[in-house]
Amino acid sequence: MQDYKDVLAEILIDEKTLQKRVAELGAEISEDYQSGNLLLICILRGGVPFMVDLSRHITVPHMMDFMAVSSYGAGSRESNGNVRVTLDLQMNIKDKDVLLVEDIVDSGHTIASVLGMLETRQPASLKVCALLDKAERREAVVPIHYRGFSIPNKFVFGYGLDLDEYYRNLPFVGVVDLQKYRPD
Ligand code: IMP
Ligand code: MG
Repeated sequence: MQDYKDVLAEILIDEKTLQKRVAELGAEISEDYQSGNLLLICILRGGVPFMVDLSRHITVPHMMDFMAVSSYGAGSRESNGNVRVTLDLQMNIKDKDVLLVEDIVDSGHTIASVLGMLETRQPASLKVCALLDKAERREAVVPIHYRGFSIPNKFVFGYGLDLDEYYRNLPFVGVVDLQKYRPD
């Protein structure tokens, strides 16, 4: 895989800006969830860095769980309506205050189907926290209760977001230069 610098068109959100916003979201969530019953659900794998950092800024007691989904029939960079759970939660979410933590809401299909599925398990509440919102691409109507940043319709990577599974570790969000990218 190429060095990230060779596929980076521009840094869209730098590390300092990201961390400041994540801290703000953590403070907001801490205000809103005084129940002591908060469960953060991370959607693997993109939500990991965001959820870890966010959790450190949440000052109320809370739990964490993880799930993974994939969509069939789609290319590796797009999802469609057919979302399938590949790794289910370990915990029972009934009567918990569930907050779904996602890296990005793009078409909205992923969040829409996860919300639909989790609702049937009767959580006390169910909300969405997304670091990035690419609203221009939306196909399914989904609520975003906590939004980090609205971004333009560009393919981005870093801070959990991948380019063919690489670069999730980068501390910033960058735009991919698809002209320069050479898939193996
Ligand atoms: P949606 O179902 O179309 O909303 O897509 C959500 C998923 O697509 C995210 O969880 C990401 O894994 C992936 N995705 C969407 N846009 C990007 C992007 O710009 N970079 C990396 N991954 C993306
Ligand atoms: Mg993802």
